[in-house]
Amino acid sequence: MAGDGEVDWKTRALPDATTRRRLLLAANDRMSAVFEAIDAAPALRHGMLEPALAAIEATDFGEPVEAEAAIAELVAALAVRPGWQLHRMAFGMFTPQPIFPGVVGELIAASMNPQLSTAESAPVAYAIERRLIDLLGGALGFPQGERAGHFTAGGAEANTTALIVALTRAFPDASRTGLAGLSQTPVLYVSAAGHPTWTKAARITGLGTDNLRKIATDARGRMLAPALQAAIDADRAAGRRPLMVAATAGTTVAGEIDPLTEILAIAQRVGLYLHVDAAWGGSATLSPRARSWFAGIEGADSVTLDSHKWLGMPLAAGVFLSRDAAALRAAFAADSYFTDGESDDLSVSSLQWSRRANGLKLYLSLKMMGLTGFVEMIDHAIELGETLKAALTERGWRIENDTPLPVVCFNDPGGAAPQAIAQRLNLRGQAFVTAMTLAGRPVLRAGIVNAKTEAADIWRLMDHLDAARRAVKPEPART
Ligand SMILES: Cc1ncc(COP(=O)(O)O)c(C=O)c1O
Repeated sequence: MAGDGEVDWKTRALPDATTRRRLLLAANDRMSAVFEAIDAAPALRHGMLEPALAAIEATDFGEPVEAEAAIAELVAALAVRPGWQLHRMAFGMFTPQPIFPGVVGELIAASMNPQLSTAESAPVAYAIERRLIDLLGGALGFPQGERAGHFTAGGAEANTTALIVALTRAFPDASRTGLAGLSQTPVLYVSAAGHPTWTKAARITGLGTDNLRKIATDARGRMLAPALQAAIDADRAAGRRPLMVAATAGTTVAGEIDPLTEILAIAQRVGLYLHVDAAWGGSATLSPRARSWFAGIEGADSVTLDSHKWLGMPLAAGVFLSRDAAALRAAFAADSYFTDGESDDLSVSSLQWSRRANGLKLYLSLKMMGLTGFVEMIDHAIELGETLKAALTERGWRIENDTPLPVVCFNDPGGAAPQAIAQRLNLRGQAFVTAMTLAGRPVLRAGIVNAKTEAADIWRLMDHLDAARRAVKPEPART
């Protein structure tokens, strides 16, 4: 029991409306101050992390800390390294600064906590998720009546889901016997530029990485369809069963889109399950300007699309989209104390059981911005990507990829090492760019990840890059 003047656990856990308001405002004000200051500070700050980490290590949770002080302390600690994506000079990987409507939706989802395992337990959140699946499936070109799927923790879960569905569809008995009971070994095909989550999926499902073929790409990192066909032929000749091809629409490094229509034709001819991993690029299917870049995606059996990437949702908000609701139930239904295997409950048709309503934030954001707002946000990034490409060319850099999506891989023709250039920019906090490998070649990479970024920032980036390559000596040629 708390004594006079003390606040007991229950009041801390479930504060009254006035206190809730005060604490939420306190959190908001602290974060707003960080956001306002962030662009004036270096894109990456160094040397402040160690004390923040030591303070966390020393925390003993003994006595409650006054609520506002605890909030202020947490925000201040996170602000030490707020995440490179929050800065307008962030040109890193594709988890952007979340857009505010998504943050509000997240707060509502967290506070009201609808439990999406069954439609009955959260009918409104369930209807919202269905509506969003319909919208995103429609953008992909899935016909009406063939727009199934659900939100996931992310692309990794969505890709793994696809492999499980493909396995159980091709080998219905495998649910009972396990893969060990199969008469033929199933094989998964993904390009060498595909995401590492496919390796995880091959391991988790029991398929095994020996049965994951990494198909060769062209110099831009796009799957070579003839190489796919050749690998399929070789596996068939060896008595194996080609199961699934996972094409990528927007490779992680270079934003390249595999030749989807060619891959679709092969999949249809051979009877392969086609999944398209469009984790970051797929959001662009909402933009009429970009839709044709994804021709062929409408023929896929399923698609991965992360709304926590280009659509600016706070983590996590992956989406698995499928044309076949029955295949999802067949893959995931399990006898249950509250639902039957024929229902459309999400616990029946997906990997998760208790389920967070990850779609609420996207629903609220679509309401607050309108679909047109999202299209403008996507087009803005595409235009900045074009500006960046034009600027690099004008300043004599060599562009190494060729995608309409807003990510550019490039190099100094004078031979300055990408790693050294990226390190110089990042250490000075001028901008965040990455040095990566594209089809075996080291490249610099800049993606447009923050909705705040404008054309003037691109030109600032150019000045920093030019200065860096002057300062960084080319690597001596190897003899
Ligand atoms: C093409 C692609 N697929 C899958 C993933 C994994 O998605 P997540 O990080 O949401 O699990 C990523 C992440 O960057 C990606 O770029």
